[in-house]
Amino acid sequence: MQIAFPAVAETASHALVVLAGPGLVLGAAAAAADTATSGQLLRAAATARFEGEVGAIVEVMAPAGMAATRLPLVGTGPAKDADASVLERVGGAIAARLLTSGETRVSVDLAGAALAIPAADAAAHLAHGAALRAWRFDNYRTTMKAKAKPTLTHLDVLGAAGAEALHARLDAIAGGVMRTRALVSEPANVIYPESFVASAADLAALGIEMTILDEPAMRALGMGALLGVAQGSVRAPRILAMRWNGTNAPDSRPVVFVGKGVTFDTGGISLKPPAGMEDMKWDMGGAGAVVGAMHALAARKAPAHVVGVVGLVENMPDGNAQRPGDVVTSMNGQTIEVINTDAEGRLVLCDAIWWAQETFNPEVVVDLATLTGAIIISLGNEHAGMFSNDDSLSAKLSAAGAAVGEKLWRMPIGDAYDKLIDSDIADIKNVGPREGGSITAAQFIHRFIKPDVKWAHLDIAGTVWASKPGALHEKGATGFGVRLLDRFIADNFEG
Ligand code: BES
Ligand code: MN
Ligand code: ZN
Repeated sequence: MQIAFPAVAETASHALVVLAGPGLVLGAAAAAADTATSGQLLRAAATARFEGEVGAIVEVMAPAGMAATRLPLVGTGPAKDADASVLERVGGAIAARLLTSGETRVSVDLAGAALAIPAADAAAHLAHGAALRAWRFDNYRTTMKAKAKPTLTHLDVLGAAGAEALHARLDAIAGGVMRTRALVSEPANVIYPESFVASAADLAALGIEMTILDEPAMRALGMGALLGVAQGSVRAPRILAMRWNGTNAPDSRPVVFVGKGVTFDTGGISLKPPAGMEDMKWDMGGAGAVVGAMHALAARKAPAHVVGVVGLVENMPDGNAQRPGDVVTSMNGQTIEVINTDAEGRLVLCDAIWWAQETFNPEVVVDLATLTGAIIISLGNEHAGMFSNDDSLSAKLSAAGAAVGEKLWRMPIGDAYDKLIDSDIADIKNVGPREGGSITAAQFIHRFIKPDVKWAHLDIAGTVWASKPGALHEKGATGFGVRLLDRFIADNFEG
């Protein structure tokens, strides 16, 4: 969708959106539309019991006395609450309503709208919300009915001079979100470790330094845990590191993001049941979020030093697959008894995280992983689980998540949970009891965090994929994590 902020509408014969909050006190643009239609706008609002709720819409079709094809009145909620995130939801509601409506162009007239932020900021966030909500993954649909296809190609926001700079920044972030969603949406016959790496190659042009580890390199480094997962698949594993240093300090300790990139998770020999197994194409959602966040940071030239590392494997059952009971040795020397080959994410992460700490000497490590079904039992699809060894880091991540609507809920860790993954035969086993399954998974990762490193683990199994549309996404891949990580860096590591 092409977005612009012209002073006046390009042409008149397209959709014209005006806004109102509770009480239907109309701003200049909405009042003008009501006058032009001899009061049709307010009559329609009353008929529809429109109360100005955020994202509520009354559409006046073919408004009498105007050239506009339709005149949607969209709710903003109370003016005092109409901040950036409300304007994003408003933009999302407009996009959702008009995307396949037959309209190709919509103008949103902000003139005189009662909002809590300046009109330029409001316009940029409204456009951002519309762009995020309008994204869809139709790559493999060849027989879609014309009426079901998106028609909307242009969004103009009027009455909001000076929105371009903020919008350019938000557009860089949206680019990252869309990249993540596309990766997560692609099936596992298209996105596997090598093709995942290939898909990220263009990040070099944004100034990101790329490092790729292939299987021999990982073997030489002793990554027995990651390689044990990979050995059942004909797809070779990879680690991809993406370094963005937007500071003038080449030797500064970076923030490192690490993503679980299991491009398909069958469970391995501990095979998953068939129902719903296709969902495991998105078991690389953590890796997808890390790539999207690196895209966002580099595209907006963030003045921060950040490295993204993704561990990419496919977890398959095969004659060469690892068995329950196998003992593998991780890169840092700890031996691991693989009780359940379906608890593979932690095996991938432990080597990727150890290598990242050895290679980049980070101050902070944040890992993202679709790690456990148990986190969905705990938190459903509203919050991702957060586990951390540092209160200040977890507060910063929570705040970033709240600001962008990607909510985190902190879960406990501690010695009593840690004991539950002691093995009888090795240093550690890869599963604990059924109870507290997300916590013992976090404890496993914790054993691979160096003592001076501030660490948080985000279990995003419940948030990367949506079974129904949300305010800023279609059903399917949400892109969860990209906006959160970008905001976390913006608020805490940019001078
Ligand atoms: N990728 C899954 C976790 C998952 C499950 C993500 C459902 C999204 C939806 C992970 O690799 C896994 O299989 N975890 C097991 C761990 C268990 C064997 C200890 C699980 O959650 O059942
Ligand atoms: Mn698994
Ligand atoms: Zn998995």
